[in-house]
Amino acid sequence: MDHLLLLMMLLVRSSGLQAEGELNSTEPGVRLVGGESRCAGDLELEHQGEWRPVWGYSLRTLKEAGVACRELDCGSAVSVGEREESSTRPVWGIISNCVESGSALRECAASGSSDSFLNLTCSDSVRLLGGTGLCSGRLEVNSDPSDPSWSSVCEADFDQQDAQVVCRQLGCGAPSVLQGALYGEGEAPMGTKEFQCGGHESALLDCSSASERNTCSPGTAVSLTCSEPGGVQLVGGESRCAGDLEVEHLGERRPVEGYSLWTLKAAGVACRELDCGSAVSVGEREESSERDVWGISSDCVESGSALRECAAPGSSDYILILTCSDKLFQPNISVSSSMYGVSGAQQQGFQVFRGSTFSISCSIQPQYPGGSFLLSSSTHNYTQPAVNHSAHFLFPAAEPAHQGSYSCVYHVSAFPQDSSSESRLLSVTVTDPEPFIIRAATRGRRPSRQEDIELDYDDLGVPAEEEGAQGAE
Ligand SMILES: *[C@@H]1O[C@H](CO)[C@@H](O)[C@H](O)[C@H]1NC(C)=O
Ligand SMILES: *[C@@H]1O[C@H](CO)[C@@H](O)[C@H](O)[C@H]1NC(C)=O
Ligand SMILES: *[C@@H]1O[C@H](CO)[C@@H](O)[C@H](O)[C@H]1NC(C)=O
Ligand SMILES: *[C@@H]1O[C@H](CO)[C@@H](O)[C@H](O)[C@H]1NC(C)=O
Ligand SMILES: *[C@@H]1O[C@H](CO)[C@@H](O)[C@H](O)[C@H]1NC(C)=O
Repeated sequence: MDHLLLLMMLLVRSSGLQAEGELNSTEPGVRLVGGESRCAGDLELEHQGEWRPVWGYSLRTLKEAGVACRELDCGSAVSVGEREESSTRPVWGIISNCVESGSALRECAASGSSDSFLNLTCSDSVRLLGGTGLCSGRLEVNSDPSDPSWSSVCEADFDQQDAQVVCRQLGCGAPSVLQGALYGEGEAPMGTKEFQCGGHESALLDCSSASERNTCSPGTAVSLTCSEPGGVQLVGGESRCAGDLEVEHLGERRPVEGYSLWTLKAAGVACRELDCGSAVSVGEREESSERDVWGISSDCVESGSALRECAAPGSSDYILILTCSDKLFQPNISVSSSMYGVSGAQQQGFQVFRGSTFSISCSIQPQYPGGSFLLSSSTHNYTQPAVNHSAHFLFPAAEPAHQGSYSCVYHVSAFPQDSSSESRLLSVTVTDPEPFIIRAATRGRRPSRQEDIELDYDDLGVPAEEEGAQGAE
């Protein structure tokens, strides 16, 4: 039945037909029924003269449900869910695109029938405006439910206990910042009450209040930041900054659906929320069977809303995987030369003979797929993509111009900011292949294979190591 309705709504959308609401601004044609207050319950809509419940698969994110709360003058959305009945009834479905474009709910209604009905809880008498999400902004209070009119709160009349109650009422975590005018002054008149909460109350209007309030100077309307409730994390990856994206919302921890791939920009917002820098890649993986997920659209995240405000319940066998740019490991640099088959044993100074072939290798512990290496010296820069987390720069015939201090810089593209890390310096000296003596570093004993390659350069009148390279350690 829900699929039928969905199909019908898609048809409505694609044909450009939209339910034409005869809007009466003094009567919103929206109500919540069966809840504890006029700001909680099953959502009902009056459209074409008919009150019907709203289909349970409409307005499934807090951000969308917030439109209903606003139309009802009930603050912001705290919780949104669905209630099922045993039989179907006529419903109004709400077209998401239409609501997102800023239209009133009634203008976005389409007819259908279902056994699933939308219910929601709004923050009722408190709201935060002008902040970055549902949990921050300028505080406004509606003290009289029978006469919805909002007033701001004087900083001097508001303390940490009051803030605890407001954050709880909004469905947010604990208060973190309480400050005057952080999100502007707004239009609302200053309220005439001082709230005296103990901190444990479930709503601000449950707190006792005194109407004898402190003198309130301009620029002191309370702004409040509550922490985001629940959490966002990446699990099952190589670090805390890579893996399946999981979001806790309405008391449930679920992975994010990966079928509709996110943009790197949206991934960047999530990485920032995770305190993990920038986004390196976003992908999906398939599970063997469907599981409960949160559907989160790229657009909603890009608009700056917190992940949970964009989360709609669903089920899927595709899970979103995200790699953020945690701190990069330091790459290794080593050199090998055709002479004596030396392979990377020397990590600091290195000498090659003019005309001989040598190569400098850059490598890094596997952390990200791809990336590139820049081999950089004071005179040359060479770039190669990382293959198997390494790159080999070949110098077919060594010349004096190749002499210098080299470093490997590993680079990964990320949004909004690229990430790179640099190896230590390795100095290369090019000498003429004059006759020389191989002397074992340890005397009086037959050199082992490793010792064979340690030349005593003093005999050649060339310093074995450059001071600069050591100084950079
Ligand atoms: C609009 O609402 C007012 C006030 O409730 C009512 O008197 C009027 O009849 C309504 N108009 C329409 C077109 O529904
Ligand atoms: C919606 O209804 C269901 C079933 O009655 C209930 O469990 C849930 O708490 C309600 N949610 C809201 C936000 O009212
Ligand atoms: C880098 O060098 C260290 C020390 O020589 C070594 O233990 C490590 O495995 C190397 N890492 C890579 C990615 O080559
Ligand atoms: C090599 O690249 C670095 C960083 O991109 C730059 O600062 C430097 O000037 C370049 N050197 C040469 C010789 O091009
Ligand atoms: C990369 O590593 C894999 C496994 O270690 C190996 O099979 C493959 O040949 C390597 N590719 C290159 C280009 O070296």
